[in-house]
Amino acid sequence: MDTNVQKRRENKKSLRVKVISLGNAEVGKSCIIKRYCEKRFVPKYLATIGIDYGVTKVQVRDREIKVNIFDMAGHPFFYEVRNEFYKDSQGVILVYDVGLRESFDALDSWLTEMKQEMGSQANMENIIFVVCANKVDLTKRRVVDESEGKLWAESRGFHYFETSAQSGEGINEMFQSFFSSITDMCENGGKRPTPEVNVGFTKEQADTIRRIRNSKDSWDMLGVKPGATREEVNKAYRKLAVLLHPDKCVAPGSEDAFKAVVNARTSLLKNIK
Ligand code: GTP
Ligand code: MG
Repeated sequence: MDTNVQKRRENKKSLRVKVISLGNAEVGKSCIIKRYCEKRFVPKYLATIGIDYGVTKVQVRDREIKVNIFDMAGHPFFYEVRNEFYKDSQGVILVYDVGLRESFDALDSWLTEMKQEMGSQANMENIIFVVCANKVDLTKRRVVDESEGKLWAESRGFHYFETSAQSGEGINEMFQSFFSSITDMCENGGKRPTPEVNVGFTKEQADTIRRIRNSKDSWDMLGVKPGATREEVNKAYRKLAVLLHPDKCVAPGSEDAFKAVVNARTSLLKNIK
């Protein structure tokens, strides 16, 4: 065969993509990548200094994908180093430690940092995100459960995986799904295909359930100031009831959140003249 024709065919089949890892320091980003690329686990913590770079080749269907992996340091100290590496990524691995709530709560600020650094060219719609709820092997210290993590991820259109870099659980599945979605996106002209399955609930519903779960008292739960009037409590209650009513909201945890809101309203009204 003409070597040029052959080359063109090979080029069509091969693809080069850039992915980055994000999340707080020590959540296990480097270990997840190492587990996948080198099939091993390092128990000793070796903080990433600024950024680590690696290349791996993977096969997705009939295509060979050359993946450039930029493994970011999570420590705030390295912000100046990592900030220039956000641009032109096709995929993001967002990691938190299921035993550290603050690492889960920090996911939003990682997205904010990314958006900010990508500037005007930011189009988060055309990037594949996977969320890794990592260190699931440490069951006794777990504080963020599966439904909470899934809710956060799926309400944003992100894939969710429970992983352990230590045991290897979920790692291959996560990377296979990640690379396959990136390939689908590239074959779809660089646009993230519309998900086949609509999750059936909104980001507002998911975020509200999360806020309710983490609220410190009944005032906080209803989103009113301590000392609010009956009218203010009722108004806030009605808004939440419409959003979370089990007949209308199918988000995981909505039933418990709805009950909690009803109880919060009842206990507040008891004490307001
Ligand atoms: P930075 O580079 O500082 O941002 O941290 P990182 O997110 O890359 O964390 P790293 O992969 O270096 O892992 C931090 C620590 O957690 C190390 O001591 C790892 O051995 C440990 N670790 C990572 N993943 C797991 C896991 O799934 N289970 C357990 N038990 N420990 C893990
Ligand atoms: Mg690291």
